[in-house]
This record gives sequence, C-alpha cells and structure tokens, in this order.
Amino acid sequence: MAMSVQEARRSLPIWRLKDELVAAVNDNQVLVVIGETGCGKSTQIPQYLAEAGYTTKGRICCTQPRRVAAISVAKRVAEEFGCRLGEEVGYAIRFDDRTGPETLIKYMTDGMLLREILNDADLCNYSVVMLDEAHERTVHTDVLFGLLKQLLTRRTDLRLIVTSATLDADKFSAYFFDSNIFTIPGRTFPVEILYTKQQETDYLEASLITVMQIHLTEPEGDILLFLTGQEEIDFACDCLYRRMKSFGKDVPDLIILPVYGVLPSEMQSRIFEPTPPGKRKVVVATNIAEASLTLDGIVYVVDPGFAKQNNAFHTEMSPVSVPEIQRIDLGMTTLTLKAMGINDLLSFDFMDPPSPQALFFAMKQLYRLGALDEEGLLTKLGRRMAEFPLDPPLSKMLLASVHLGCSADILTIISMIQTGNIFYRPMHKQAQADKKRAKFFHPEGDHLTLLAVYDAWKANNFSAPWCFENFLQSRSLRRTQDVRKQLLSIMDKHGLDVVSAGNDFTKICKAVAAGFFFNAARRDPEGGYRTLVDDQPVYLHPSSVVFHRQPDWVIYHELIMTTKVYIRDVTIINPEWLVELAPRLFKLPNSTRLSKRKRQERIEPLYDRHHQPNSWRLSTRRA
Ligand SMILES: Nc1ncnc2c1ncn2[C@@H]1O[C@H](COP(=O)(O)OP(=O)(O)OP(=O)(O)O)[C@@H](O)[C@H]1O
Ligand SMILES: [Mg+2]
Repeated sequence: MAMSVQEARRSLPIWRLKDELVAAVNDNQVLVVIGETGCGKSTQIPQYLAEAGYTTKGRICCTQPRRVAAISVAKRVAEEFGCRLGEEVGYAIRFDDRTGPETLIKYMTDGMLLREILNDADLCNYSVVMLDEAHERTVHTDVLFGLLKQLLTRRTDLRLIVTSATLDADKFSAYFFDSNIFTIPGRTFPVEILYTKQQETDYLEASLITVMQIHLTEPEGDILLFLTGQEEIDFACDCLYRRMKSFGKDVPDLIILPVYGVLPSEMQSRIFEPTPPGKRKVVVATNIAEASLTLDGIVYVVDPGFAKQNNAFHTEMSPVSVPEIQRIDLGMTTLTLKAMGINDLLSFDFMDPPSPQALFFAMKQLYRLGALDEEGLLTKLGRRMAEFPLDPPLSKMLLASVHLGCSADILTIISMIQTGNIFYRPMHKQAQADKKRAKFFHPEGDHLTLLAVYDAWKANNFSAPWCFENFLQSRSLRRTQDVRKQLLSIMDKHGLDVVSAGNDFTKICKAVAAGFFFNAARRDPEGGYRTLVDDQPVYLHPSSVVFHRQPDWVIYHELIMTTKVYIRDVTIINPEWLVELAPRLFKLPNSTRLSKRKRQERIEPLYDRHHQPNSWRLSTRRA
C-alpha cells in the first residue's frame, strides 16, 4: 500500500531529529552532517530550515555534484512541498535554470553555485548553503570549500552545512574551524526499509532499461554500468541475462560481465578481452574501483541515475580517494578564481591543494589564450571568457568569432560539440547511416559538417521525422538547440554581436583555430600526424570527413586513445593563422636561414621575457 508523501517524510530517520538539527544549525555557523544513505539529508534538511524561518532572510541552496541528482531531488522536494517545480522549490544546472522569483529552496550543481559566486561574491541572496555529497570531492566542491571558508568570516549570518560520508567527517570538521559533527542514526522502522527498497529497485530498474536501450538502439561500443555493491551487481546481471534471453535470437549478443573484488581472477580478466565484432559487452562494476583499471572499448557509461556517452573510448577508473582537483585540467577553475579576484592561487586555502605544476600549467595555457597577461592578471578577454560556462578554449573560440564575424555559426558548432552523440548509427544499418551522413560532409572538416547538420535541421523546421530519415539523434539536436539558446542569452547580456559568416568558411575555421591552437597537428611524411605542441604521433579518426584527404595542417577537438591515439573532430587550417591567432605560442622562424618552402611550413615557438630561452619550446624540430 502506498504511503502518502507526508507519511513518507515522517517515516524517515531524520524526522525525529528535526528540532535538534534546526537547533544545531542555529547554534553553529558550520555543521558537518553524516547519515546513512536515504535517511533524508538532501530532501529534508532544506525543508526543515525553510520551516524554521531561514527563507525569510534569503534562499536556501543545496548543491549536488551531479546534474541528475539536482533535478531529481528538486522534483521530489517540490512534490513534498506541494508546489510546481520552479516555484518555491527549483533547480539550476548548466544550461537549465528552473527557478523563479518565489524560489526558496534551490538545488543546483556545485558548478552553478561557483558561477553565482563569480557575480556575487557574498552570496547575498542566500541564508544557508548546503554542500551535499561533499565527500565526492569534485573540483567545484573543493573550490567552494575555500571560497565559503573565506565568506563565513565576512558573513557571520550565513550558515554552511556540509554533508559527508562518515570517513571524511573529521577531516571536513578540522578544515572548517573544528566545526561540530551532527550524526543521523540509521533507520529504525521497518516501513522505511520497505520504502527504501522500492526506491533502490526503481533506480536499478532505470539503469537496466538504459543498458537495454543502448544495446538495442545505439551504435557499437561497450557499456559500463556502475552499481553500489555485489548484491546489486548480481541482481542486475541476472535481470539482464533473463531479458536478453526473452528477446531470443533476433538481437545481437550482449556479453554480461560482473566485476567485484571477490570474483575469481579468471572471470575478472575476461573484462579486458576485446569484444568480438557484432557483439557488445556490458561491464557491471562498483564505482569504487579498488585499483586503477583501464578498459578499452567502453563508449557508454551508465552511472546510478545518469547515463552519458563517454567522450573517449577509454575509461580510466582511478581510486576515488584522490580528489578531482589533483587529477584534472584546472583551466576553467583557474580562470573562475582569477575572475573572482583571487590572484595568488598558490596560497589559496584548498583542503587538498593541487600541485603547483598543475596550476602553473593552467595559467600558462590561459596566458597563451590571452585570458591572463604577463603578470598573470586577468585580461578583459579573460573576464569575458569567465562569463561562459565553457572550457577556456571554447569560450576563447566563441569570443574570437565575434571579432571574426561568425559568432552565430560558432555558437552552433560549440553547442553541437557540447552535446555530442549527434549521428545515429545502428548496428545493422551502418552503411545506410554512413551514406546519409556523407550528405552533410563539408570539405573543410568536421566542425563545419556539424554546422551543416544543424542548419539543415533548422531548414527542415527542426523536424523529428527528418532526423529519423537522416540517421540523426533528434533528442541530441533538441538539446543542442537548448544549449545554443542559453549561450545566446549570455552573448546578448554582454552585448556581443551574433552574426553568421554565410559562405565565408575561412572565418569559421579561423575562429576554431583561435581557441584550439594547442591542438594543431601537421601531417607526418612518414604517416599519420604529429601534434605541434609536443610532437606526439596521432592519427585521423576514421569518422572524420577529412579522413581520406589527409590534409597537411589540422586542428582537432579531442584525442581518443585506443590502440593508437586518434584525433577527432578535425578542421583544416592554414598554418599562418597560428602565428596570427596565437602570437604567444607561435612565431615564424628567422626567414633568412630558410628556403621558401621551409619558411611556409615552419613555425617556431616564441620565447617570453620571463623565461630562459628554450624553456618553453614547443617542440624540437629538425633544421
Ligand atoms: N524521487 C523520489 N521518489 C520517491 N521517494 C523518494 C524520492 N527521492 C527520495 N525519496 C525518498 O526520500 C528518502 C530520503 O531521500 P534523500 O535523498 O533525502 O536521502 P539522503 O539522506 O540524501 O541519501 P543519500 O545519502 O543517498 O543522498 C529516500 O529514502 C527515499 O525513500
Ligand atoms: Mg542525498
């Protein structure tokens, strides 16, 4: 028998502690909260504080590391609160803001809160900030730690709640001025267990449906499904096995491989074997990988609650204990911090600081993009770039396109790239799909091909049946349109011109190069390509429209590692542009010493006055 929403709220372990919790928040500026999964932290704490009056002084925000979590928790709480999503309870994630003037409780990704701090350093609109799932230690959460720690001294009325896994609670407390830790004891009533079970089955069921959908409709590529423990893994594998069986012989084989610590090693090693052609592999694993593990061939990752296509055909699972900030490229983070006026990043109070080398590297890249000046201070361009929720090369490309007069086109290209997964290539109709795709091919490369696809869709009134006929994913295209709208509104807000270059494709290719000159490569006479920046051998991805042309000079969007290193989403460039667009990285060599042909081909790195000559040479080159 189903419980009413209010009955369900009252059956949660946290319910009995409501008054204590509110009192603790009143008495403590920072509170670390721990409690078992499902006990009601994300859904209840903001509501309790709203009832206790905190929303009379400002909003309550609750951050989530994952977009999907932000949406689903907001939906649930709106239902419990008895309002429509976007009224008293709303959410904000990148490219999707469902809040309004009435919003009291706002769920958002940690990245979004970071963007808000960019424009309002004191978070004047908020009375409470709850950093939920802080133990996940995303780079955004880590930066928020440092910023909020500073802010708390300026705004003594602000309340900070940090929810954490038990293991990290002491560390978090020590970092936040030895704050108190509030523990919510486990579940006590049998009815809750029942209720939770139902929840878990739902999310498991959703993952299983996703896996089956990918298998039956998506192009080839293996699937990685993350679940929380052995029991779930076994259950999921069993369900998948039975469902596959019920489809009979009409569908391609799905190789189902559970992975967990205690599995016999022979079974474990099977996950590393390449998938036979025409089949697909699904690896079902816990998201806490004991050791670093690399799986080739994984294209789809289904994570509890969210499914996404992996950008690389290569999945790296590093031990979760290393915070993201010590693993990833810090370009966007550095730019955001600089835009907040935090110049000395080396002495910023990170809970676990990134390596100085990683920070220097990020700053060097930003300098070369023109976002920082020689003193490491933010330039006007850099400030603008920070306004866009995009990686620095993408925001640079967009701002360059304004000057080049092709911003409408670049907006589309960026939105297509951000969305990905545009082309539909079902396993049994690959030839037909490829033929359709070829109709959109643009000789200058993949970026312009993406533009051609979008423009054709637009010319066909954004029609879904048209997508179907042309083997395009209409859902992805609709999302592209959405992303484009959001970026457009930021452009409008800053009065940036949005114009199309029409048939002047050079402008568009130049804008691509203006953001991605780090990713320039030239053809190697001995086969393949070499990247300009570090002379690494790379190869054109067979999906590229220029694959058969093998042009001399290209810019690529990303590297993909399988057996070889491939470059994907490629555009042909003229090497002279590099000198023009990235004078902080490339210069023409001394022309008196070179033949005319060499002069055209060669590009030399530029030295800067703060470094020893040669200290940041791009590449060693034969004379
Ligand atoms: N979308 C939903 N539909 C139905 N019930 C839900 C939904 N979301 C949450 N619940 C119920 O609310 C309870 C509390 O969920 P909540 O997300 O607040 O827990 P939590 O303490 O934040 O857990 P976790 O540590 O896993 O994030 C869950 O046990 C579940 O029973
Ligand atoms: Mg939660």
